[in-house]
Amino acid sequence: MSPRKIIIDTDPGQDDAVAILLALASPEEIELLGLTTVAGNVPLPLTARNARIVCELAGRTDIPVFAGCERPLKRPLVTAEHVHGKTGLDGPDLPEPTMPLAPGHAVDFIIDTLRTQPEGEVTLCPLGPLTNIATALLRAPDIAEKLREIVLMGGAYFEVGNITPAAEFNIYVDPEAAEIVFGSGVPITVVPLDVTHKALVTKPRNDAFRALGTPVGTAVAEMTDFFERFDREKYGSDGAPLHDPCVPARLIRPNLFTGRHINVEIETKSELTRGMTVADWWRVTDRAPNAIFLGDIDADGFFTLLTERLARL
Ligand code: BDR
Ligand code: CA
Repeated sequence: MSPRKIIIDTDPGQDDAVAILLALASPEEIELLGLTTVAGNVPLPLTARNARIVCELAGRTDIPVFAGCERPLKRPLVTAEHVHGKTGLDGPDLPEPTMPLAPGHAVDFIIDTLRTQPEGEVTLCPLGPLTNIATALLRAPDIAEKLREIVLMGGAYFEVGNITPAAEFNIYVDPEAAEIVFGSGVPITVVPLDVTHKALVTKPRNDAFRALGTPVGTAVAEMTDFFERFDREKYGSDGAPLHDPCVPARLIRPNLFTGRHINVEIETKSELTRGMTVADWWRVTDRAPNAIFLGDIDADGFFTLLTERLARL
């Protein structure tokens, strides 16, 4: 089978960084056409910077990195420096990038790529707020049927929320964008907190990254060292949840995950529950399924895969 063509839409973020590294380390399964950056964990100039730092860390300055939307469709930007640090990529001491941004806007790259690639071949992998994806769908509705799938990190059902009691960060930041994406008719797979809160970087797992003895292994260990202090303090968990790397892992080894094909709607009206993913996990409505909502992960299998792949970089 030829590798799956993907665009990663991202707001790095330490866990985004690891997701990008996993995709770059997996050419048998994944052909990364480009990175599109969006405002999220930190403002756009920093996410666009951080994405290039990650490409340079992996020695892949050939990957085009585009800057996209600076703010959500209808709301002021909410960021997460309290989790990711001031730069979004706090932890390792990595050099400022020297590779330039690719010319043009991320949304144009998404639209042009989908219009020029054969129909049904390109998968979008959003790892941040869905602003770029929704803007592309609004500007070029024809791309919906060209897409193979959208596999995104966002939302929660059993875990409910991490930025508010009711909502996960990526969906909370731009709920109107999420509503457009979930209403687009494109096949969607959702990797929610229900899965990612089981993908914890425990000490032995982080030691395995460090033991790779490579610049990538060391940087990943230092990123998770930084990132985990938030989750340990907040949830008392055993380590940092590697949210976003679950997305490329799903493409590489789908069988590491289980889920249900269900209806998912996005709350946009209530201030109290803004950005809640109302997932009909128990199928108590007759609303049509619009997403595969994952619920479980083989965490040991995931970390074995991740460590093996990072060792290649
Ligand atoms: C998501 O929010 C960000 O902080 C992470 O990068 C991840 O994409 C988890 O809620
Ligand atoms: Ca992210």
